[in-house]
Amino acid sequence: MGRFLLEARDLRYARGGTQILAGVTVGLHAGEFGVLLGPSGSGKSSLLRCMAGIVRPDRGEVLLDGRPLSERDGVSLARAVGMVPQDDIIHTQLRLRDALEYAARLRFPAGTSEQEIQSAVDRVLSAIELEHRARTRIKKLSGGQRKRASMGIELLCAPRVLFLDEPTSGLDPDLESTTMKLLRKLADEGRGVLTTTHSTASVELADFLLVVVAGHLAYGGPPQGALEHFGVSDHDLIFKALRKGEPTAWARRYAQSPRARSFAQRGPRALRAAGGRAG
Ligand SMILES: Nc1ncnc2c1ncn2[C@@H]1O[C@H](COP(=O)(O)OP(=O)(O)OP(=O)(O)O)[C@@H](O)[C@H]1O
Ligand SMILES: [Mg+2]
Repeated sequence: MGRFLLEARDLRYARGGTQILAGVTVGLHAGEFGVLLGPSGSGKSSLLRCMAGIVRPDRGEVLLDGRPLSERDGVSLARAVGMVPQDDIIHTQLRLRDALEYAARLRFPAGTSEQEIQSAVDRVLSAIELEHRARTRIKKLSGGQRKRASMGIELLCAPRVLFLDEPTSGLDPDLESTTMKLLRKLADEGRGVLTTTHSTASVELADFLLVVVAGHLAYGGPPQGALEHFGVSDHDLIFKALRKGEPTAWARRYAQSPRARSFAQRGPRALRAAGGRAG
């Protein structure tokens, strides 16, 4: 019970007669950075939305500190778990600092002091490394900076778990790398971080890789181990390998491998950063 910070157990989710998630089990420890890969339409966004408590699975459950998300009220859930969706949702006319202040006023409890708001905004600007752009209107930020601004909104409440849906899509390789390093850092500070991506360039930064195909978990484990598991020399080739077999066969192959067991039983990760939990 409750070995993981956040744990999804046997998630099943169907819509319009389609099985979108076909029984996915995965845990996330504090301080871990996981990368979720899979072909388009394989259920990545759906898995993140279920794990973040945005949608409820038809079967299975998600536990935070060993307690089902469904038992928590929306406010405590929103504080503990952040989700950065693929599309930017923040007001683009506002200056970055004003947007963060505005979001903080909306999200923080009534009666939060002005000083607390300002210090939360300062903390976030530093975390997303955009202090020098605080006075810039969001529409004038670069694509990568805008994505970081969206992350900043979610970081305001200092969530312990952060999910991101394709934060690097449309970014050049350099920005992709910078963004993935930032996620690595956010995890090192003590958060559990899980992101989807279509780029495999930075997967080595992750503690683990998840591969989903047609709603099945085809792999969970260290990035290097995935190469062996799929018999490929490069992470990009995993997508090609997946086309060669049935999703259920890939799922069975993984479930029956010793990798599945050692991944499920892995212990908490010693925090890399000396500072411990992020505040
Ligand atoms: N509300 C819904 N109703 C019906 N089908 C849905 C719904 N949401 C998702 N789907 C279907 O479920 C499947 C998985 O969708 P999902 O968005 O989770 O995939 P994805 O892996 O994130 O894809 P992409 O890489 O393109 O973002 C797709 O076939 C999609 O059409
Ligand atoms: Mg998606």
